[in-house]
Amino acid sequence: MKKIYLYGNWKMNMLPEEGEEFCRSLADRISGRLYGSDCVDICLFPPFLAIPAVLKALPAGPVSAGAQDGYFEDRGAFTGAVSMAMVRSVGCSHVLVGHSERRHIFGETNEVVARKLEKALNSGLKTVLCFGETLEEREGGKTIQVVQDQLLSAFQSVPEVRARDLVLAYEPVWAIGTGKNASPDDAQEVCAFAAKLALEAFGSGSLIPVLYGGSVKDSNAAELLSRQDIHGALVGGASLKVDSFLAIYENYRKAFAG
Ligand code: 13P
Repeated sequence: MKKIYLYGNWKMNMLPEEGEEFCRSLADRISGRLYGSDCVDICLFPPFLAIPAVLKALPAGPVSAGAQDGYFEDRGAFTGAVSMAMVRSVGCSHVLVGHSERRHIFGETNEVVARKLEKALNSGLKTVLCFGETLEEREGGKTIQVVQDQLLSAFQSVPEVRARDLVLAYEPVWAIGTGKNASPDDAQEVCAFAAKLALEAFGSGSLIPVLYGGSVKDSNAAELLSRQDIHGALVGGASLKVDSFLAIYENYRKAFAG
């Protein structure tokens, strides 16, 4: 039975005290065999200012915390930016790079994403590289080309020895926050393609998980997570409440793993 990655991106939600409360309630829910570290890997991505409170309250077990972004320079005159070293120094183990909201709202190019990825991995962070096409690109039949461009430009900057700290997350832009998830077949097709590119780039020594994100919730989780090349979910809205977040994993387990 495969291990499921259950990653929650809180985006610009949750005050420090709300994050702490979330962790307390998470702690009450995740004891027992179902939540062994061989079964599930949970990571929370709070906004920067809530990270210390979340880390302090993080329950024991397979749960870690990361930042939603980080800059590629170490220090200097970069108002508003937070470096990967800073992310690491407060105790985060993970970071997201290339989220579609960073690409499309904040104008990050593939080149910026590649520089962030390199810095994150060299800082010792497990790094979730997000990628995915817009609706216009999908409807124009360009999904595979766009995904290939995003991944190959980023892969060039991955130091070979750090490839094992890479996680991929396919998040079609049109499925994020819209309630419209990709069909399990479409998600599987793109995740399999990403896995193939990663295998070609890094070899079979680094088994790189591929997550799906975009309107994942309890009702669609089992179908998506059961697909061969989908190793987990990067969850936005449904990660803000412990019940809806854990239901994603629990529904998959109920449906396919007994
Ligand atoms: P939703 O689950 O709210 O669609 O967000 C997905 C996402 O962007 C996670 O990074």
